[in-house]
Amino acid sequence: MIYLNGAFMPLEEARIPVLDRGFIFGDGVYEVIPVYSRKPFRLDEHLARLQHSLDGIMLDNPRSNSEWTEIIGELIDANEPEDQSVYLHVTRGVAKRDHAFPKGVKPTVFMMSNPLVPPSRETLESGVIAVSAVDNRWLRCDIKAISLLPNVLLRQGAVDAGAVEAILFREDFLTEGAASNIFAVKDETLLAPPKDNFMLPGITYDVVLELAASIGIPFEVRRISKEEVLSASELLLTSSTKEVTPITQLDGKPVGSGKPGPYFAKLHAAYQEFKSSVMRA
Ligand code: PDD
Repeated sequence: MIYLNGAFMPLEEARIPVLDRGFIFGDGVYEVIPVYSRKPFRLDEHLARLQHSLDGIMLDNPRSNSEWTEIIGELIDANEPEDQSVYLHVTRGVAKRDHAFPKGVKPTVFMMSNPLVPPSRETLESGVIAVSAVDNRWLRCDIKAISLLPNVLLRQGAVDAGAVEAILFREDFLTEGAASNIFAVKDETLLAPPKDNFMLPGITYDVVLELAASIGIPFEVRRISKEEVLSASELLLTSSTKEVTPITQLDGKPVGSGKPGPYFAKLHAAYQEFKSSVMRA
């Protein structure tokens, strides 16, 4: 079951007019919210980021936070899996094609749910392969925009090279992955790029830094050079669907020992423990 503009219906029945500005211009924003044991994880933070994205594209929020919470709850109830990934999408609505904003048009609101499958044990034991790529996106990567063509091309480039993620660099500093945030471990310190306009402020990124602080992992939030990434002892990627995943090969070379390292092990365990404590609460 999906949600479209106020109604729940089977996915096959959902229809969008071809003049929707999401279809024509990619004029909209989205969120992906993980749901564990039927409870949305860090919902307030996801809704705050949705507001930031809507502000960034100058679109009024079509629902209050309590309305979003209610609809998300109903969508979760209408779908079977205990663990779900809720996809929420708002566009500027349907109007005659003209780049400038239309007046008096209702935004399109769409939500769907997919089963949430965390990384397999095999992935966590062996790690994943990444390639480096030039970050050729725009300068507002802090907006979770549905216009994802650069991200799509970058991740396809990674897949074509036999990898699962592209690690992006802008003028030789690390920004993020094509669909994830990236952390490096260097000289026993966890390094995270600063939350600026060059990266999406990941909800999982925040959780990882909170966990690092609480379990006593030294960390620094600062610009990270490509050289530091290439010589890191560990690399991690984080996202709502991939949680904390180790990267063990970059551009054909092993990262550190070529196996998931101790910082990954600690953060992954802390993340699992944190998730279950939140779900029990
Ligand atoms: N993507 N950076 C980019 C470019 C992303 O697309 C994502 C997540 C993240 C991680 O953010 P978070 O921890 O809040 O999921 C960082 C989602 C999962 C997607 O597009 O499917």
